[in-house]
Amino acid sequence: MTSKSTVLQNLPADLDRDRLPKHVAVIMDGNGRWAKRQGLPRIMGHRRGVYALKDLLRCCKDWGIPALTAYAFSTENWKRPLEEVDFLMTLFEGVLRQELREMVQENVRINFMGNLADLPRSLQVEIERSMAETQHNASIQFTVATNYGGRQEILQACRAIATQVQEGVLQPDEIDEALFSRHLYTAKVGDPDLLIRTSGEMRLSNFLLWQLAYAELYITETLWPDFDRAEFHRALCAYQQRDRRFGKV
Ligand code: IPE
Ligand code: IPE
Ligand code: MG
Repeated sequence: MTSKSTVLQNLPADLDRDRLPKHVAVIMDGNGRWAKRQGLPRIMGHRRGVYALKDLLRCCKDWGIPALTAYAFSTENWKRPLEEVDFLMTLFEGVLRQELREMVQENVRINFMGNLADLPRSLQVEIERSMAETQHNASIQFTVATNYGGRQEILQACRAIATQVQEGVLQPDEIDEALFSRHLYTAKVGDPDLLIRTSGEMRLSNFLLWQLAYAELYITETLWPDFDRAEFHRALCAYQQRDRRFGKV
């Protein structure tokens, strides 16, 4: 019961706890620009970005938001300079190794989605370990999209479904939205209610193309390393002012 009272104590008074999003997704953009503004190499922005993500995860947990999905590396990000890609892969691995104990203690369930088989083997090992060690945790579902692409995700779902049809275990007219959703990486966690993108870009960059159909979009000029609790509070206030009609009047 302590968890409920903690939520009440920490949640800013102007937020309605009954109308918080149940699933927040975030496109963590602007690390490179943040570094450039400080006169630092791009990679320093990525390093700082980790702190912002840690903070957001803790904040979601404190305020009783049960799911957070963060876009860490897209299928298109391989087109960046090799040194930057290598740095990111090493960073992900190091952070996982360093943070796992705390995530276990904090009752965080971590999950990864994307084409994980194409990631460096040593990173895959840390990913598997972290998912296995936190699989019974329940305070928050934390999903990191790594080598993730929305189109690739939809295609792999299509292939799996087509195979079942070919094998005769599924009829084409049995393919509906619910069945399709079950073949996506988000089968368990469901669709985000709120999508936040930092650094002002007005695009999805191949993130959760199916799942964001009815998400509320919140775009801020703030660069990802500067995205803090006050910024998240503003995003949630904006979310609570929205009228989610889902096509109704
Ligand atoms: C987002 O920041 C992090 C990743 C894509 C890994 P960027 O690296 O895209 O930063 P900008 O957009 O160049 O400023
Ligand atoms: C989207 O950011 C991917 C991540 C945040 C991981 P990008 O910086 O790669 O997106 P574009 O290139 O500006 O569309
Ligand atoms: Mg970017």
